[in-house]
Formats: sequence, C-alpha cells, structure tokens
Amino acid sequence: MPDPESRRAASESFYTLRTGLLPGAVCRGTACFVARHLRPSLWSDEQAPGVHCLGRCYDAPSRSGDTTRPGIRIHAHHGPVLERLAAGGAHSLAEYQSLGGYRALRMAIVGSPAAVLSSIDASGLRGRGGAGFPTGHKWKSFAEAVRSAGVGHIVANGDEGDPGAFVDRFLMEDDPFGVIEGLTLAALATGARQGHLYVRAEYPGAARNLTSALEEARASGLLGPRILGSTLDFDIQLTHGHGSYVCGEETALLRSLEHRRPEVQTRPPHPTQQGFLGRPTLVNNVETLANVPWIIRHGAPAFHALGVGSSRGTKVLSMTSLFRNPGLHEVEFGTSLRKIVEHHGGGLADGSAVEGLLLGGPLSGVVFPKDFDTPLGFEELSRISAGVGHGGVIAFDARTCLTELAREVSRFATEESCGKCTPCRLGAPRLERLQAQSATGTASEAQPTDEIEALSDALIQTSLCGLGRGLGQFTQSLLNRKPHRRPACQ
Ligand SMILES: Cc1cc2nc3c(=O)[nH]c(=O)nc-3n(C[C@H](O)[C@H](O)[C@H](O)COP(=O)(O)O)c2cc1C
Ligand code: SF4
Repeated sequence: MPDPESRRAASESFYTLRTGLLPGAVCRGTACFVARHLRPSLWSDEQAPGVHCLGRCYDAPSRSGDTTRPGIRIHAHHGPVLERLAAGGAHSLAEYQSLGGYRALRMAIVGSPAAVLSSIDASGLRGRGGAGFPTGHKWKSFAEAVRSAGVGHIVANGDEGDPGAFVDRFLMEDDPFGVIEGLTLAALATGARQGHLYVRAEYPGAARNLTSALEEARASGLLGPRILGSTLDFDIQLTHGHGSYVCGEETALLRSLEHRRPEVQTRPPHPTQQGFLGRPTLVNNVETLANVPWIIRHGAPAFHALGVGSSRGTKVLSMTSLFRNPGLHEVEFGTSLRKIVEHHGGGLADGSAVEGLLLGGPLSGVVFPKDFDTPLGFEELSRISAGVGHGGVIAFDARTCLTELAREVSRFATEESCGKCTPCRLGAPRLERLQAQSATGTASEAQPTDEIEALSDALIQTSLCGLGRGLGQFTQSLLNRKPHRRPACQ
C-alpha cells in the first residue's frame, strides 16, 4: 500500500491541467484541425500541454477565453433536452421553476420510487455518453445493489472530452438545475444518498454556474436533508477534472474521484455493484440525466413516441464550425444523416462538398456520403460501422487529407492513453509515426499500410477500453479507402 504522499504524486503526475485551464490556450481537437484554414493563427501543433477540446467546436478553430455562444435549434416535436436552452437558459432557481423546473421532482415525491424506475425503463431512454446502455436497466440493478449494501453514490459524468461535442457544456452552464433535478430524481428512484458532479477543467463556466445552482438548491430545501419536506436526503458534491480525456471512462473517473491514479479498471465488477470507495455507484452522462425530468413530467409514452427502433427520444447533435448552421441541434432518432447534414446543418458554409463526417466522437470512424441515407440510431449506425457516440458531428471537406486526419486521431489517442494496456500505450504512438510517414510520403506505400492494418487489428482485439479499441476501429474505417493508400497527401 503506497503512503498517502506517493499516492498523491502518482495521481497528480497523470494530469496535464493540474492548475486549471491555461488562459489563451488554443484547441488541438479534431474539429479545430479540419477547420484550421479558417483562422490559421489559432491552430498549433506545438502547444504543451495540448488541449483537445474546449467545447467551442461551433466556432472552431478556437481558443480559451472566447465568448461566442452556439445556435440552439430543436427539430423534433418536443425538445426534452434543449427546451430551456432554446428559451435562453435558466441560471436561477426562479427562472428554472418558471420554465417547468422541479415539477417532476414534486410529482415523484408524492408518487413512489418504483414508479420513477418503471417510467425511465418504459421510456426506452439509453445512455447518451457513448455506449447507449439502457438507463432503466442500469438504474434497477443499481437500486438492488444499494438496497443490499445500504449505501450508494450517483455520478453525473460531465467530463465531455470528445473533440466535436459540446452539449454537456451548455447543459451544465445554461441549465444547471436541469442536471441537478435529474440527479435528484435518480437518487429518489434508486435509494442513493450522495451525488457527485465531475466537471472537466476545460469548462470553468460550467463549474461556476453549477456551484451557484447547488448553493441555491441547498438554500431552498431542494438538496440536503428532507428535500421538499419529504423523507429524501440527498446532496451533491462538485469535483473538478484536470485535463484527461480518459477520465470520462467511468472506472477511470471513479478513481479520479478517489484521488487515485485514474487508470481504467477491468470489469466486472461493474461500478453499479462496486464503484466509488468500493460501494455501488451509478454513473450517468449529463445529457442522459437532463432527459429524466422531462420523462417524469410528460410520461414515458410521450418520450417513447419519439425515435426509431430501439433508439427512443431525441439526440442533441453538436455540429461544428464548417457547417452553415453550426451549434446544438436536437433531432429525433430516425432522422437521416442526409437531412442532418444538408437540411439542419445547411451543408458547408462555403458551399464546398462534405467529404465525410466524424460522427459521435473522435474514435467512432468516418461516415462517407454514400451512407448518408442511414437513420440516426444506435443499431442503424452500427450496421455501417459507425456510432451515435456522444453526438459530435464534425464535417470535413477536401482540404483534409484522410491520412493526415488518421495521424491527428492517433496523436490524440497517444496523448490521452492512460497507459494501462500495452497495445494502446505502444501501438498508438507507433500508428501515429507510421501515419506521419504515410502523410509525408517518406515510406513505401505497402509497408506502413500492412503494419497499420496489423496494429489496428491488435488494438481492436486486445485493448481494455474504448479508447484503444476505437482507435483501431477508426483506423480500419479508413484503411479500405483508396486515398489512404496514397503514399502522400496531395
Ligand atoms: C475513453 C472513454 C471516454 C469516455 N468519456 C466519456 C465522457 O466524457 N462523458 C460520458 O458521459 N461518458 C464517457 N464515456 C462513457 C462512460 O464510460 C460511461 O459509459 C457513461 O458515462 C455512462 O453514462 P450513460 O449510461 O448515461 O451514457 C467514455 C468512455 C470511454 C471508453
Ligand atoms: S485502451 Fe488505452 S486508454 Fe484504454 S485502458 Fe488501455 S491504455 Fe488505457
């Protein structure tokens, strides 16, 4: 057992932003990379530490401290997630309540925890953090674990490290009570009594607004003992991240909350059974939790009526700066990618053709125009080797060469790998080097392609978490493309 000082040092040495976000830092995320021609002075390969997403991809390339806001649009019949943001946001409790806030909690308190659990289950809500796991199923298994352990923790995952995604940032910043009410409803339904909000260092505005919302909720009897005069005791603690993408992965996040070195852990046990401090822990994404009050208020059937197949409700898409209409777009599951790109996004602002999309995160693979008739849905996208992920939509045009794009993604994975497993720790930098050689034409065509193929296969087969596996899958999604086999980018 290491002494506390060594443990603290081991944990701190993991992070790149130990003292918070650097003022004026430029972003090195993928959305900024594909848009670097718009403002070349805001793109730098050299800055250390590299910041991989500032949540300003609607205005990429971007720099910390810029204050532009994204456009907010709801294209579905209802906007369970963005309805308050579309009305200008709700920063105070009075504003939140005037827009229907806390009605769901009041309804749930006079009902029963079991009724909340079955509503969430019947709604068909699935996690919006990437894996799309059924939320009701997870809550039920967690509630059972809390019952037998007599204790439980709930965590709102606000680490949103995916370059290209910024919905959680604006939910936390402009609708903080919505996230808090979602967490409180989860506590009421499952029996957990301690909540956590994990907010990344790159989002100082979100941490600030959540802190003041937590204080106001506490002062108004909406957090703490006997909430609204009921038997529900529940409070929430905010923890700041320190610039690590892998801390969004739930087992790494929980170690970070425990002030331990945040390496990914093998499962089982799953956090719902054994998580924070070895106790049952429910980890949900911020957008997942933001859906919960709407479902309780309007009923599971109203939510289930939206969507397609086993993807119910809406998804907020973060559309990046090359689109004519960048910003947050809430769409119903089932909307075709073509409608999203051409109608909602308005195509590319300068009229050039979309060459491809990085959909759902930096490692989800590229979707090419031939697949744009695919509907947005978990299973529907997985059939074309793509994913909903967290809903980032990064479009790129012919200025971005696929080999360079592949190298950028490998560089991101290299810098963010937690180092726990060998294929990712050593494979990601090796891939990056091979792709750099390919991009500059310094290697023969056949050699790196064969090794890239073998390496990406090893990453898919043997990586412990989605970072290594995703890098392998992303790389393979480009391998079959002819342009990748070009020795150099032209
Ligand atoms: C490398 C990696 C990074 C992740 N980053 C995030 C993140 O930033 N936010 C998030 O909610 N989930 C992230 N996840 C998924 C979480 O592990 C977890 O599945 C999710 O928070 C569960 O919430 P949900 O069921 O509501 O989606 C990440 C997963 C991996 C493998
Ligand atoms: S795949 Fe990479 S990030 Fe994931 S556990 Fe292994 S080393 Fe860590």
